[in-house]
Amino acid sequence: MRVSEAVAARRSIRAFLSTPVPDDLLRELLEKASRAPSGGNVQPWKVYVLNGERTSEFLRYLESAPPVEESEYDVYPAGLWDPHRTARFELGEQMYELLGVPREDKAGRLRQFARNARFFDAPAAFFITLDRRFNQPQWSDLGMFLQTFMLLAVEAGLDTCAQEYWSSRHGAVTEFIGAPADEMLFCGMSIGYRDPNAPVNDLVADRLPLDEWATWV
Ligand SMILES: Cc1cc2nc3c(=O)[nH]c(=O)nc-3n(C[C@H](O)[C@H](O)[C@H](O)COP(=O)(O)O)c2cc1C
Repeated sequence: MRVSEAVAARRSIRAFLSTPVPDDLLRELLEKASRAPSGGNVQPWKVYVLNGERTSEFLRYLESAPPVEESEYDVYPAGLWDPHRTARFELGEQMYELLGVPREDKAGRLRQFARNARFFDAPAAFFITLDRRFNQPQWSDLGMFLQTFMLLAVEAGLDTCAQEYWSSRHGAVTEFIGAPADEMLFCGMSIGYRDPNAPVNDLVADRLPLDEWATWV
């Protein structure tokens, strides 16, 4: 598979089959993803993997954990501006249209959102954390790692969804995974095989046209 094919094929998948993901495959993909670049080669990522029975245990544990907490970082800046605001809005509209959930159906929208908390039924997942002493450049290094992992997953026939959602459950997550207090949770990653019959997986999120964000100086 060519890199450009993997980039084009990767999509956030929000409905997974129960088909198990072998631990060895996860280990191999994570090891390969660590070829991602990082400033100064500091490799600031810390990854906590859940798979199979451990994923189920975590989901059971979550049921008794606090439902939602304040995130430790702002997922979006207050008063998000255009064109980003509209792009975000349209993503939601596109998704709920595919699902046939109209704007007025708040409960229906909430139900879909709540699927975040089940990794969209994916059997495998990881959480990624960053030592609090790191700065913005190292946050971007996490992004490099995540995208490298997601592309390698495509090559291996797997699907993924990165999930900032988990920042709103950071206390429960860090407690379960045993991350020390000096690490901040960035996000989760659902991993598995897509349900080809789930309409939500037909979502192809739009992109802003190049001329809106690239300037030839
Ligand atoms: C760091 C990160 C966090 C994300 N968090 C969530 C999330 O919590 N829930 C969700 O459904 N999608 C989440 N997404 C998926 C984005 O909505 C998605 O990447 C974007 O809409 C573009 O669509 P695509 O990934 O299918 O190309 C996240 C993506 C990234 C990169």
